[in-house]
Amino acid sequence: MEKIVLPEIENLNQIDVYIAHDGFQSAKKAFAQTPDALIDQVKKSGLRGRGGAAFSAGLKWSFMPKSTDKPKYLCINGDESEPGSFKDRQIFEYNPFQLIEGVIITCYAIGAKVAYLYVRGEYHKWIKLMQNAIDTAYEKGFLGEKMKETFGTQFSCDLFIHKGAGAYICGEESSLMNSIEGYRGYPRVKPPFPAQKGLWGCPTTINNVETITNVPPIISKGWEWFSKIGAPKHPGTILFGISGHVNKPGVYELPSGVLLTDLIYNYAGGVPGNKKIKCVIPGGSSMPPLRGDQLEGVKMDAESLKEVGSAIGTGGVMVMDEDTNLLKVLLRITKFYHHESCGQCTPCREGTSWMEKTLHRILDGHGTSNDLDLLVNVANNIEGNTICALGDAAAWPVKFMITRFRDEFEKYVNPNISLPVPNKVHSMRQTAVPLEDISK
Ligand SMILES: Cc1cc2nc3c(=O)[nH]c(=O)nc-3n(C[C@H](O)[C@H](O)[C@H](O)COP(=O)(O)O)c2cc1C
Ligand code: SF4
Repeated sequence: MEKIVLPEIENLNQIDVYIAHDGFQSAKKAFAQTPDALIDQVKKSGLRGRGGAAFSAGLKWSFMPKSTDKPKYLCINGDESEPGSFKDRQIFEYNPFQLIEGVIITCYAIGAKVAYLYVRGEYHKWIKLMQNAIDTAYEKGFLGEKMKETFGTQFSCDLFIHKGAGAYICGEESSLMNSIEGYRGYPRVKPPFPAQKGLWGCPTTINNVETITNVPPIISKGWEWFSKIGAPKHPGTILFGISGHVNKPGVYELPSGVLLTDLIYNYAGGVPGNKKIKCVIPGGSSMPPLRGDQLEGVKMDAESLKEVGSAIGTGGVMVMDEDTNLLKVLLRITKFYHHESCGQCTPCREGTSWMEKTLHRILDGHGTSNDLDLLVNVANNIEGNTICALGDAAAWPVKFMITRFRDEFEKYVNPNISLPVPNKVHSMRQTAVPLEDISK
């Protein structure tokens, strides 16, 4: 099977090797075309974002205004902080020049002269590797003013790394832009969307690292070629990062639509001790979990996972065997989202805290069956009522773990105590405003 994002070529992270394998030829081909033609090809290829929401990359690019007197920007999202997700760092380490070439083509297509690569702060090693690759690209004339001569074009762009400071919320696109601007990483209320008002109030496109790395092969081999790989509505390959109870955890580049069971048993070597699977989270910790007895025939692409009540997210697959304590897993996940909530909106700030406390109470042996209903109720009141999707990311694991594994959770609660639980507390939507507005 052909690898698009992480080709199996030795030392591809060295610029001479990359050039010897047709490196930067896609950019050359791109400069011979109009930006609109490139956007059209990426749209037709069916490339969808690999950062979580699987939104059409070409469509997103087309939202950038054509005539504006403001500068335009590209942000490449390498924050990679979703638990269970560890694939972008493979690109930084093994194929940094294809990412850089993707940045060059994207900048040209959307009309951006400056790009920021936002990398999670803990990735010291990968920041260093990426900075070396960028420095080398400048030296060899593939970035900055020198690229005009190299590619024989009037266009040039610059690429800078912006290092995060360890906050998960800075992976959210509007928060990421605030962080680059030097402000606290608070998500912004949308609309306006980044293409209208992004970095420093200027039109901005934000794409994930893996999304951008897919661009050069699409330009060199054509959109038709790409659109025929994997699942028709979500084509291409996906970097699946598989972890947990599997014999061979790691990152596997496979066509979208691969069977989840194939991924677990054939690629990741199955479950240690041949134990049964209790639960799989298919796309990073915020995605709805699947039951072990629900995995047969499940395909790993956005549409197929939606059909079984989950989502592809970042392709971070977490496998849990039959001995896993799901209460502990859910508490750990909830603690994470509570800790990472930026606190701007009440449902997320308070709800994540209540959910963590309630799960703690159950784990301490003081829970009731009503606590399980209460947890689902709180999750329902967070979902859709917040400024950014961290609220949903915190709510879904609670809501779906408890509803899909109720039998598991019932084991930990006292069946003899029953308290009434309100159906809906009240609409909290009006509280979803930034703190600055509340303080006025
Ligand atoms: C709380 C939160 C954290 C996020 N973290 C990341 C991240 O680490 N990397 C990423 O690419 N997208 C992340 N996203 C999604 C981004 O907001 C954005 O949709 C994405 O970078 C767009 O790129 P794509 O269209 O290429 O997928 C996050 C979203 C939320 C709500
Ligand atoms: S949902 Fe609201 S409180 Fe939670 S992280 Fe997003 S903006 Fe902050």
